Amino acid sequence: MALFGKREEVQVDRERLPRHIAIIMDGNGRWAKGRGLPRTAGHAVGAETFRTIATYCRELGIEYLTVYAFSTENWKRSADEVGAIMGLLQKYLLEAVRDMEKEKVRFVFFGDLAPLSEELRELCRQVERDSAKFEGCQVNICLNYGGRDEIVQGAKAFARDCMAGKVDPERLTEEQFGGYLYSAGVPDPDLVIRPSGEERISNFLLWQSAYAEYYFTDVCWPDFDRAELRKAIGAYQGRSRRFGGV
Ligand code: IPE
Ligand code: IPE
Ligand code: MG
Repeated sequence: MALFGKREEVQVDRERLPRHIAIIMDGNGRWAKGRGLPRTAGHAVGAETFRTIATYCRELGIEYLTVYAFSTENWKRSADEVGAIMGLLQKYLLEAVRDMEKEKVRFVFFGDLAPLSEELRELCRQVERDSAKFEGCQVNICLNYGGRDEIVQGAKAFARDCMAGKVDPERLTEEQFGGYLYSAGVPDPDLVIRPSGEERISNFLLWQSAYAEYYFTDVCWPDFDRAELRKAIGAYQGRSRRFGGV
């Protein structure tokens, strides 16, 4: 592992941290291919990167971290690869249960968990339930998540409330509609990071990232580390956010 010295070091201003960081954890497959390894080896190292970055966010005092772990489109991959990703998730969550009292992270899942195996689904629910008491840092794991799917399921839930006479469609506000999404109650992401050199959104947080700052880097997710996160936060802190104003 490269230590300080050789690489550019960025200091982050702890007074102006993003409240919510979202990450598209991309590039595991290419990282592995570049080393002559199977794609699944990249996912395994990527899972470790997730652990490192989640811990660092908690140490820094980031209130919310949202990570894209598996999209509604990722089912297109081979059964072997999907199985390996689900297996790694299961392993990670079992470790999260084990370390929960030490890490004190609150986990929430964004996505439709229905197509997952019953075992994994129950584990997700257990982790969510048991970690709900922690208040320091909230990690949202997007699993079988798609931004469009989230908006459609929100629209369905809203329509059901309309039909039940609970709400009036003429009075719907943006804020109220946000309450029908997986992210209900979570502030919008301030900074969205995508490693791996791809510069697209791939169906991630479409509603919530309306005014997010984007940060792209060529580094693949398995190589993303604390220094890379500092670079991303440093870039964010150099931006002028105007939200349509001047
Ligand atoms: C991200 O890495 C992990 C998931 C999408 C589950 P990829 O597997 O997409 O890696 P690349 O983009 O093929 O390198
Ligand atoms: C986005 O990455 C999904 C996750 C990181 C979980 P993909 O690798 O699936 O996105 P595309 O196919 O490059 O757009
Ligand atoms: Mg990818």
